[in-house]
Amino acid sequence: MSDPDAPWWKTAVLYQIYPRSFADSNADGNGDIGGILDHLDHLEWLGVDGIWLSPVTVSPNADWGYDVADFCAMQPDLGTMDELDLLVARAGQLGIRVLLDLVPNHTSEQHPWFVDSRSGRASPRRDWYVWADPGPEGTPPNNWVSSFGGPAWTLDATTGQYYLHNHLSEQPDLNWWNDDVRLAFDAIMRFWLDRGVAGFRIDVCNIIIKDAELRDNPPATEDDDFEAQLFGQRPVYNGNRPEVHDVIRRWRRLTDHYDPPRVLIGETPVKIDALAAYYGQGHDELHLAFNFPFITAPFEAHALRRIVEDTEALLPAGAWPAWTGSNHDMARLASRWAGGEVPKIRAALLMLLCLRGTPVLYQGDEIGLADVPVAHDDMRDPLGVRYFPAYAGRDAMRTPMPWRAGPGGGFTEAGVRPWLPLGDTEGNVESQRSDPGSTLTFTRELIALRRRTPDLQTGVYRSLAAPDGAWAWRRGDHVLVLLNLSDGDVTLGGMEGLEGMEGSVLIGTDRRRGGEELSGPVGLRGWEGLVIETR
Ligand code: GLC
Repeated sequence: MSDPDAPWWKTAVLYQIYPRSFADSNADGNGDIGGILDHLDHLEWLGVDGIWLSPVTVSPNADWGYDVADFCAMQPDLGTMDELDLLVARAGQLGIRVLLDLVPNHTSEQHPWFVDSRSGRASPRRDWYVWADPGPEGTPPNNWVSSFGGPAWTLDATTGQYYLHNHLSEQPDLNWWNDDVRLAFDAIMRFWLDRGVAGFRIDVCNIIIKDAELRDNPPATEDDDFEAQLFGQRPVYNGNRPEVHDVIRRWRRLTDHYDPPRVLIGETPVKIDALAAYYGQGHDELHLAFNFPFITAPFEAHALRRIVEDTEALLPAGAWPAWTGSNHDMARLASRWAGGEVPKIRAALLMLLCLRGTPVLYQGDEIGLADVPVAHDDMRDPLGVRYFPAYAGRDAMRTPMPWRAGPGGGFTEAGVRPWLPLGDTEGNVESQRSDPGSTLTFTRELIALRRRTPDLQTGVYRSLAAPDGAWAWRRGDHVLVLLNLSDGDVTLGGMEGLEGMEGSVLIGTDRRRGGEELSGPVGLRGWEGLVIETR
């Protein structure tokens, strides 16, 4: 049964905008709020219910907005506060809510709080950050490493202590044991929520609180994931502490006072059992938590199905999953999952939009936009600059949206150099919009189908038996989703839950199959997917 009282964010399709790469309204090569305003028609036409903007607040851009120097003011080259207010209002008129990115774990080293904190050991804000004395040989206080590589500590020569940074040294970590830090973020959240912002995506939600005793992390073992092995340690004490849940419950209480309901989406790069804990009792912590085991899984039926089943089983009652295949840190799904192949891209989109939970598309997913390789000289991501060629960083997934063919690609004016290279503009929004067979048209029709099909919005998920390489599930009472994530043909039917398949195709990755009447076993070609209404 679908739930007509489900809050908006449960039935929503969300869409992440990376503002600097969405659309440039003033021909300076950087996307901006004006560009989002100019393209609201695209978002409305596509049918999304909410947009999450990667950071738009003041930043020296050591980490492109994720090093915030003022949490309550706009980054000038991205826009003004008036433009943001206008965006919230205009998007609202079109039924699109606006979410911002909140970065509570750290600030920019240029944030006045940190400038004050590092000015002296007696500074009133000294304890707002994590400071510690050097080890015996003048070494860092403990063995923690930054998730961007290297020690997580930098010595401040003036005051003779180290400060902690789980990312760049330009991003000092706040001390969330300090009540004044908590109060300061309450005020920041209210500042935006009072302006009509619909909620926040919360950056690295899982590492906000560190071990109070700053204990060494234990060494990685062979059973640990790739990252732990790369860094040689398990991130047990520099984040992932149980006390983080107190902070999240505090944020939830704060947002629960707002009407219409606001939403908190956590960036939670953890295993599924830990992910489940970020939902608390199902109603008192995050509303949605990004599922990293899913986004990092291979595009294989067995692996993905297992993650979805585990997520369904482990989340507390009332909790709601979130599904995403791309973002500004991970490769775009068109490349990572689909290797640029259109049938695979469409299978991935069908999967995302037909699971139980809130799908979050990343700008360009709707046109099947692939990563754009960026030459070393053009790189802007500090990680690419630092680690190339071992790691090319995250620029490839942050390149501008191709709105139309030709110089500038509709992202910026012809002759203007975009902040990151545009890549090939074939397959742009304009050309796909007028093509009934395009990926864009397919995405739009999937979103529309989801909207008019309560079972797809809120119906329960149930896995069905399927041959190797295929994945089949039921949504609610009347919808079946069949996906073939393999090269060969498969036949589904005659197995448990799928014995008497009587129904009609609501949508297929092969558009010619829409409306097909089914009776008995169903054949799927390689990488084909079908959504079926059963009788
Ligand atoms: C998150 C952001 C990423 C950023 C990091 C540090 O993972 O998504 O872009 O670099 O946090 O703020």
